[in-house]
Amino acid sequence: MDNRETFGSRFAVIMAMAGSAIGLGNIWRFPYMVGQGGGSAFIIVYLLSTLVISLPIFLSEAVIGRKTHKGTFGAMQQLAPGTPWRWLGLLTVLSPLIILSYYSVVGGWSVEFLLKSLTFSFSSGDQDQIMGFFGSFTSSLWGPLACHTVFLGICALIVVAGVKKGIEKFSTWTMPILFLLIVFIMVYALTLPGSKAGVDYLLKPDFSKLTSVAVASAMGQSFFSLSLGVGTILTYASYVHKDENLLRSGVGTATFDLLFALIAGFAVMPAVFAAGIEPAAGPGLVFETLPFIFAKMGAATPWLSGLVSILFFLTILVAAVSSAISMLEVGVAYLVEEKHLSRGKAVAILFAGCWTLGALCAMSDALFSFCDKLTSNFLMAFGGLLFTLFAGWYMKRADVREELKAGKAFGLLYFLIRYVAPAAIVVIFLTNLFL
Ligand code: TRP
Repeated sequence: MDNRETFGSRFAVIMAMAGSAIGLGNIWRFPYMVGQGGGSAFIIVYLLSTLVISLPIFLSEAVIGRKTHKGTFGAMQQLAPGTPWRWLGLLTVLSPLIILSYYSVVGGWSVEFLLKSLTFSFSSGDQDQIMGFFGSFTSSLWGPLACHTVFLGICALIVVAGVKKGIEKFSTWTMPILFLLIVFIMVYALTLPGSKAGVDYLLKPDFSKLTSVAVASAMGQSFFSLSLGVGTILTYASYVHKDENLLRSGVGTATFDLLFALIAGFAVMPAVFAAGIEPAAGPGLVFETLPFIFAKMGAATPWLSGLVSILFFLTILVAAVSSAISMLEVGVAYLVEEKHLSRGKAVAILFAGCWTLGALCAMSDALFSFCDKLTSNFLMAFGGLLFTLFAGWYMKRADVREELKAGKAFGLLYFLIRYVAPAAIVVIFLTNLFL
């Protein structure tokens, strides 16, 4: 264990974990879900679910990772040798790699869109053509494959450099910059004429929209946004120093993640409404609607809309890279610790595997959405449930207490880990399945 790396400071821990958490989920999913789910009414539910469900799952993963200083599989082998828990260890080595494969395809789109912005294609092009660009790009073969390769290559280079020199360095540098960028874009969006409707869309409390499906999706979003249930937080926590307070890291990460999601909402939705477009969810929002908006604004001030479009796609690219490296690290930790490969070899093998699955996803929409649905609707919830059950019921209470060092709050947190979070995950899961 002596030669195992650790993050250098609490700031580094939170930036790395926030890097994993802050991603496409904050930019293309959260703003839309808030509007659909009743504005600030939805945000309240989101906050509550972060406190009573996501934070306990986060802490469960963090306790397991930090206690063992091992990746997901090694942690299960150490704490529960010879039991079926090893399958949880294996599952959570595989699920982040499946996410990484298709996430890298999307990351590749942001590479392409950044390049397009750099040549001012959005701010000076024909508006209808720009709307159609995303469709024609993603249905072509070589462009998306090349961009997927570039994106995955960037992630591989960062991870191969190590936990401290790669992941920590990248996250501590880029996360604060990312935050400034999104704030700048928000200020710009809020000054556009007609942007107020976007603010209303996000903030007006509308409890009639807060249906049971909306409540379940608020819980699910909070869960997805914090990258829970697939062993990334567990693996990052295994690089956290013994003296570090895990509760503080968890609260810090969740706060930063939520703040970023809210600011992204106030950056994206006001611009959407100012352009008089219906908000969409998913890829359409950032890769179709926004380029169209840049084009529309470009008619008046091409340099400004060109600049904003460069900064916007740069933000998306960096947010996606910082999430993707956390998925890659889970597999790397496994190959290095359990199979005794060098870091370089481990990264090369996983690059080849994820590149292949990702390339297939780039060519087949059906496979792409299968991987997406399998992981975000099923594997993440399943893994999250099992991690809370492991920390709450399998591990000794004294061990959890010692790791958490939560003082008086321990009793409450332990109760949430044992009962509330697992029950809530089952409810979200069933709601997603049947409603
Ligand atoms: N949290 C990421 C986002 O908001 C997405 C994500 C989901 C993720 N599961 C993950 C990232 C696992 C890293 C690992 O975009």
